[in-house]
Amino acid sequence: MRQLNLAILGLGTVGSGVVKILEENHQQIKDTINKDIRIKHILVRDKSKDRAINTSSYHLTEDVEEIISDDDIDIVIEVIGGISPTVDWLKRFIKKGKHVITANKDLLAAHLKVLENLAEENGVALKFEASVAGGIPIVNAINNGLNANNISKFMGILNGTSNFILSKMTKEKTSFEDALHEAQKLGFAEADPTDDVEGIDAARKVVITSYLSFNQVINLDDVKRTGIRNVELADIELGEELGYKIKLIGKGTYEKGRVSASVQPTLIKETHQLAAVENEYNAIYVIGDAVGETMFYGKGAGSLATGSAVASDLLNVALQFESNLHTLPPHFELKTEQTKEFIESDEPVTIKDKENYYVVLYNDSQTIGQFEKEIKNALPFHKSLQLSQRDDNTIGAIIVGIDESPEQTLIEAGFEIKKIFPVEGV
Ligand SMILES: NC(=O)c1ccc[n+]([C@@H]2O[C@H](COP(=O)([O-])OP(=O)(O)OC[C@H]3O[C@@H](n4cnc5c(N)ncnc54)[C@H](OP(=O)(O)O)[C@@H]3O)[C@@H](O)[C@H]2O)c1
Repeated sequence: MRQLNLAILGLGTVGSGVVKILEENHQQIKDTINKDIRIKHILVRDKSKDRAINTSSYHLTEDVEEIISDDDIDIVIEVIGGISPTVDWLKRFIKKGKHVITANKDLLAAHLKVLENLAEENGVALKFEASVAGGIPIVNAINNGLNANNISKFMGILNGTSNFILSKMTKEKTSFEDALHEAQKLGFAEADPTDDVEGIDAARKVVITSYLSFNQVINLDDVKRTGIRNVELADIELGEELGYKIKLIGKGTYEKGRVSASVQPTLIKETHQLAAVENEYNAIYVIGDAVGETMFYGKGAGSLATGSAVASDLLNVALQFESNLHTLPPHFELKTEQTKEFIESDEPVTIKDKENYYVVLYNDSQTIGQFEKEIKNALPFHKSLQLSQRDDNTIGAIIVGIDESPEQTLIEAGFEIKKIFPVEGV
């Protein structure tokens, strides 16, 4: 039986989970891949640190060069995080013909295409299941399970911390600040929560998922982004009154060869499956032209959940090891020049969906009835309109079935807008 030599870069939350899974499910993994996996090196920053697992049988090193110069290594798992120097290390491993598995969304959101091209050139695998929604096997689902589809849209709850905070605000009627504090106390939020609550972490996952779904490289800056600091209890209560929950939704849509990507607080109809995703859980909803609507649900983070995704990549690489399977998702390669021309032509690929919005408008002294009349005058073509007094100074309106954002039209009609969020699932 062939032995595969593995190097793991990083032994923190995810790295420890990976080692634990490889230890505890050793026999099952061996039977599945018909190969023995040996962890030959583990890279850490500080060897003397206490670890969550017993490391006495492993070779820990603080020197990456020791691993890079070891020609016996077959597969490298990167669970360190950060972009520099990690990206240079990964490039060096790929150039040396090593398969690379990473959970690093920060790095992939900026360098996925370059790394994938490099892996392709060097005939090795680049796998990154854990980089989107942790334990949910969404990368594999899109690349394999849905590869006969043209995907027109995905949307999901891609950040457990912000979902935990919004769930807490909804259930316990607490403010954003109190819910954040509680999340920090319970270890669901970092001391510096910026990446999570400002939607940056979710935006990185939107970049990666857009690439998988639409075969288009977008930049992090192309993702329209609003975090959850701007969500007040008054929005949550008004949403509930009108039949909606507020979630931080990462979304990508594909139309006429172009991708629109966003991360925004979004009102989701309470009957939609995404509305039921609470606390630190993640879920992604994907629409394919053949399959229709699909949804994937599970833990988006955590040692074993994320470790499960990394270990799955490892098994897949091991299974494909001696065959000449490509590193690119198979459906990408089906996109010939002719298909691309069709997709990028002006002919609509999909019929544009109508849009829905939640708008908070300042109100000095008008009645709801007066407001309704004025909104209907400004936006004559909508499907339905729900209004409710939000607090002493504002009114919340849910406008369903319009062609584009009502922001400009409402401003031109003299309304003063406090905030505007999209609405989904109606
Ligand atoms: N945590 C999750 O649930 C989760 C979910 C999905 C994806 N991810 C991604 O997985 C990756 C790892 O996350 P994590 O939560 O496991 O991180 P973590 O707990 O902070 O662990 C990072 C590990 O990398 C080592 N390390 C950091 N910088 C190093 C350097 N310059 N040289 C050598 N070793 C270095 C650290 O060594 P020491 O232990 O010696 O300090 C530590 O063992 C990140 O890219 C993250 O975005 C994490």
